[in-house]
Amino acid sequence: MKTKSGFATRAIHHAYDPMQNQGALTPPLHLTSTFSFETVESGGEMFAGERQGHIYSRISNPTCDLLEQRIASLEGAEAALALSSGMGAITATLWSLLSPGDEVIVDQTLYGCTFAFMRHGLSKWGVTITHVDMTDLDRLRDAISEKTRVVYFETPANPNMRLVDIKAASSIAHGAGATVVVDNTYATPYLTRPIELGADIVVHSATKYLGGHGDVVAGLVAGTAEQISEIRLVGMKDMTGAVMAPFNAMLILRGLKTLALRMDRHCASAKAVAANLEAHPAVRCVHFPGLESFEQFELAARQMDQPGAMIAFEVEGGMTGGIQFMNRLRMIQRAVSLGDAETLIQHPASMTHSTYTAEERALHGISDGLIRLSVGLEDVDDILMDLDQALIGASRHAAE
Ligand SMILES: Cc1ncc(COP(=O)(O)O)c(C=O)c1O
Repeated sequence: MKTKSGFATRAIHHAYDPMQNQGALTPPLHLTSTFSFETVESGGEMFAGERQGHIYSRISNPTCDLLEQRIASLEGAEAALALSSGMGAITATLWSLLSPGDEVIVDQTLYGCTFAFMRHGLSKWGVTITHVDMTDLDRLRDAISEKTRVVYFETPANPNMRLVDIKAASSIAHGAGATVVVDNTYATPYLTRPIELGADIVVHSATKYLGGHGDVVAGLVAGTAEQISEIRLVGMKDMTGAVMAPFNAMLILRGLKTLALRMDRHCASAKAVAANLEAHPAVRCVHFPGLESFEQFELAARQMDQPGAMIAFEVEGGMTGGIQFMNRLRMIQRAVSLGDAETLIQHPASMTHSTYTAEERALHGISDGLIRLSVGLEDVDDILMDLDQALIGASRHAAE
């Protein structure tokens, strides 16, 4: 008999009992910066870590605590931590893990601000950043050494959708004593659970699918209780102060309740959109883990429960063709971010990945004509129709 509740059930109920909260079905929002101590002695015991309890909301807060317990359960982790943004989660994690002289091996493709943090932030403090194309794990095997403290990657990667084999990469990293950190923003724990596959720490921009409604910027980290305690007390409390506001925790808790439902719809629509784009004469190529033409189709099927709802593609006509197409869209919104109810489209070379130089973009597989699409929850026919009319309009413009 099944002993653990299913994903959707845990996303709705885990770690909350209304009867412990005056019957309130919705968990209370604890809008408090500080917490009173019964006695001086009990406060002292909390500071010493000898007694459980909340001290100050830059360390912990009951509303954030519930979200932390829920995401830990969904990721299959011992513990989790809520932070002010995805970048807050990534920076607090890496500041906690690294010291001058350490090396981080990172995948060749990364979200632009993560890349900027590594390249312009960590490297200033004596940390060596080595980029390796982790779609070829022999390169990781060759690059890794006893100096490597962290192996870091996104899968699927933002924006070109390349995947990393989490199980194989983790086994190589652990052989060298390195900690594996995976950005699971694109897949969410509904589709991929990196810790179950051998990774050590998962980071999220909860701003995206976990929140799901485009109304909050938030981040999460999941890992062992020991790792999370270190990131909480060092990376978050002292080094970045990047704490999640309790109200934002409430919005993410609300988003999580429909994560499974939304992801099923996002993924089904994305499959239809990717197939249509691939068949469209105005589209040069499509990168989507659910297409048989996708280079890592077999890995996607093995590692992801569904292929996700992010699509990268190139239209005919390169950068100009892309701009003509994007400006003709009527319902689909030209905007950064992803994972919202609204279908969003953006151009990485001029937006999210503009912190890369042109050479870096070429090296990291981000062509100037690449377009990133986050398939939303509208009726799929309306998404298809809007894409089609904009593609046809852009081709006509090019032919004139
Ligand atoms: C894959 C990925 N990781 C991290 C981040 C940063 O998250 P946030 O914007 O919540 O700081 C983003 C933002 O777009 C992202 O796409």
